Amino acid sequence: MLEITVNGIPYTLEELPGEKLSDLLRERLHLTGTKIGCGEGRCSICTVLVDGVPTRSCLTRSAKVNGKSILTIEGLRALRPQHQQDQREDLKALHPLQEAFITHGAIQCGFCTPGQLLTAHALLQNNPDPSVDEIRAAMNDVICRCGSYEAILSAIQAAAQAMREDGHVRPRQVVLGAQDLTHIGKPIARPDAVAKAIGTAKYTDDLQFEGLLYARVLRAGVPSAILRSLDTTKAQALSGVVKILTAKDLQHERKHGVYKKDWPILVGIDERVRYQGDAIALVAAETQAIADEAVQLIQPEYELRPVVSNPFQAREEGAEQLHDQGNTLKHIHFNKGDLEVGFAEADVIVEHTFSTPFMEHLFMEPECSIAVPGEDGGLELFVGSQIPFDDRRQVAEATGLPLEKVRVRGQKTGGAFGGKEDVAGQIHASLLAVATRRPVKLLFTRRESMLVHPKRHATSIKLRLGATQDGTLTAIQTELYGDTGAYASLGVPVMTRATTHSCGPYVIPHTHADCYAMYTNNPPAGAFRGFGVVQAAFGIESAMDMLAEELQLDPLAMRKQNCLHIGSTTNTGHYLTESVGLPECLDAISRWWAENGITVPFEPQTEEIRGQRLITCWGLACGFKNTGLGTGADDSSGVILKLLPAGRLQIKSGASEVGQGMLTTLQLIAAEVMSIPPDNINVYVMDTERTLDGGPTTASRQTYVTGNAVRQAANALRDRILDLLSKRFGVDAAAIQLSTEGAFWAEKRVSWQEVHDLLKQTPEGLEVECRYHAPETFPLDVGGRIHIAYGFAVQAVKVGINTETGGVKALRVVAANDAGRIINPLGFQSQVEGGVIMGIGHALMEDFKVEEGVIKSDRIARYDVPRMQDLPEITSIIVESKTSEGPFGAKGVGELVCVPTPPAITNAIYHAIGLRIDSLPVTKEKIKDWLEAHT
Ligand code: FES
Ligand code: FES
Repeated sequence: MLEITVNGIPYTLEELPGEKLSDLLRERLHLTGTKIGCGEGRCSICTVLVDGVPTRSCLTRSAKVNGKSILTIEGLRALRPQHQQDQREDLKALHPLQEAFITHGAIQCGFCTPGQLLTAHALLQNNPDPSVDEIRAAMNDVICRCGSYEAILSAIQAAAQAMREDGHVRPRQVVLGAQDLTHIGKPIARPDAVAKAIGTAKYTDDLQFEGLLYARVLRAGVPSAILRSLDTTKAQALSGVVKILTAKDLQHERKHGVYKKDWPILVGIDERVRYQGDAIALVAAETQAIADEAVQLIQPEYELRPVVSNPFQAREEGAEQLHDQGNTLKHIHFNKGDLEVGFAEADVIVEHTFSTPFMEHLFMEPECSIAVPGEDGGLELFVGSQIPFDDRRQVAEATGLPLEKVRVRGQKTGGAFGGKEDVAGQIHASLLAVATRRPVKLLFTRRESMLVHPKRHATSIKLRLGATQDGTLTAIQTELYGDTGAYASLGVPVMTRATTHSCGPYVIPHTHADCYAMYTNNPPAGAFRGFGVVQAAFGIESAMDMLAEELQLDPLAMRKQNCLHIGSTTNTGHYLTESVGLPECLDAISRWWAENGITVPFEPQTEEIRGQRLITCWGLACGFKNTGLGTGADDSSGVILKLLPAGRLQIKSGASEVGQGMLTTLQLIAAEVMSIPPDNINVYVMDTERTLDGGPTTASRQTYVTGNAVRQAANALRDRILDLLSKRFGVDAAAIQLSTEGAFWAEKRVSWQEVHDLLKQTPEGLEVECRYHAPETFPLDVGGRIHIAYGFAVQAVKVGINTETGGVKALRVVAANDAGRIINPLGFQSQVEGGVIMGIGHALMEDFKVEEGVIKSDRIARYDVPRMQDLPEITSIIVESKTSEGPFGAKGVGELVCVPTPPAITNAIYHAIGLRIDSLPVTKEKIKDWLEAHT
């Protein structure tokens, strides 16, 4: 027997052989606050304290903790110091660390939060006044893929101070935009942050269902083959196996795809395997262990085929043809002016090819779907997804159920970054649930997650860029190859964005771009924060610096000379009439350098930093990123607004909150219109039965599109209330004002409760439904206004290079962003810091390796991402160049911020040591080899 104490409660439990502590906590004690990110000891988000020591519960056997005392996230609030004072009603009885994490914006998706909080608690127990370096060292093992490191650092400092002093957690100072409105622009904490901080927030894997079956998918394992036979006999005979499905069991749609249906739900006999992650068979069993064992017993036979391992090979004559249409998913191109004329006018032309690798989202919550059959023959699907309504469509098509019989209930989502747009296990879990009439859970292992879901496109970009002697750009030609892997996923829109952004945010009279999005036998590539624009920016921003050097011009001045501005036309023919803050962003960086005494930013220096002798230098890059779907798509979102009793409001939206902070954005917009405090507004999202389709959470569109839907609905509800009161009390509607208490005019006061009761009796009632359609855009071949708006960014990055080891660190980042009006500065700050961290990962470490179609980066141990020690000092500068159509002038920021970081870093490396990095990521070996050859 095991004798343990968990959160102060003693337990005597049967000892189960081989059981992990995380399973004991989550499954036997139902303490699901402890999250599992990898199960391989690499992310540390499963950390609990065993006798006060941070311990990875996924690696620790239960038997090892016999006689010990365990603290999980659920027990932290009880350890709140006695002198801790309650600052806010909703933060009552929280530990200062929990309060600080919430109010400092350290909780985004929240999946890593339990591990972060417990590790921080252990640190403060041993060291009540830790230095920044001590915090960095203590927290380094716990990955936060949302990149909340700066906020976590500041929260730990604030909590430590509160615990040492008066119990008061100081608020975080964040950069504010305009302050001319009541709610918009005021920093607020996320409404879901408390549950995430105390461990009660439920993600899909935390849900419990009676009679639950566990699923596992047999994956092909080979990248290119024809499936010739499949023997499931041994697996069928295994006790505890309830159902095995293969392609012959598919009775309805056989393929899925968020953009194009080319991805087999299950590969059938004599059908083609196109990548290692292809699904061959599905197993549902009474336990996960049985399901895992059963897939090992299934025997497939393959006829191996040649592997198409890159997009160049895919275009070669005689290459293995992977799809009926051949290997070209799409040739994307545009042309403006006359290239020959443009290059003839140029005094200098630079020509270079740049390449970027596949990147893995590595959201901390692995994909999980639970499908539950209903008594009416329908199906409920619980899942963290970026597009719940599209999941519903795809599940209905695959199961043959009518659309209205499938209800997708989106759950808290532990990060997505584009990687949860395609279906993962949604269809497979649903098929098994329909076949067994029992609830079925399909939880990916980390390895399966890395193997299966689409990546950032590995891209090659060849550029030819010309300018006159004074630095005026005359012509640009770009040729891109995007490796879209085995299936289309979102390859067409992603590579379209890469193409349209490949000429940069500059005025160039003569432009021509060609892009080949090619099928290969690599994992599919699709949406990833930045959506093709990150790759494009690496090319053009590197080429801009190369051109500036050739012309002996200042890189910032040359960008300023050519940058888009109001009254200019983009390279795809969009005449810009408003909201182009790029010149202001460039000015902001110049000003910041001047104010901080940096007079020669591009001159290398030698500095002693944290005991290391480093060559330091600054680099610079610009970026722009479309807001919204654009290129002719109907970009719309529906919301339902309802006035509740006692001055409360409910927003219902089908849009997904995946950690980006949309909930506060919608709260603040409604609050501003209705004069109801954000705390009194609840936002219910992601339920295909109870909400209206909000469209995908992609393209940095939810602030603009769903935000506008909320604004319009709130305006309609407000008008309805004013009209009602006007008629009822015989007062001019224009004289009525709304406030936090209700409506008032002259001496008259009508409380929100009275307004509610009056409105309820009207035929229109308490609810307003609204569908907002963004302004029309045009396809690329039509040109002109292809997007509703663009965000603009400039980043300056100071790097430090260790000439002995070849190591490179981003030491300081100054990020100026024009995302239009800032709705919630706290959420904005989180997005800026998280985006910069992701950009640093792209530049300096992340490389999802695939060799001949075989995935090498199949666990976190083989895929490096930024950790706390990689955090630079980040300065955010807000440039609010408002749009007339966006809600209160907002655009979108989620993707924009990670666009300029990689080229700003590689440009800094060039200024520092003369090495032009043209393929990412930068490695120690590249730096060392260069230094050895050039010193
Ligand atoms: S280290 Fe335990 S889940 Fe990652
Ligand atoms: S908040 Fe840390 S992984 Fe999302």
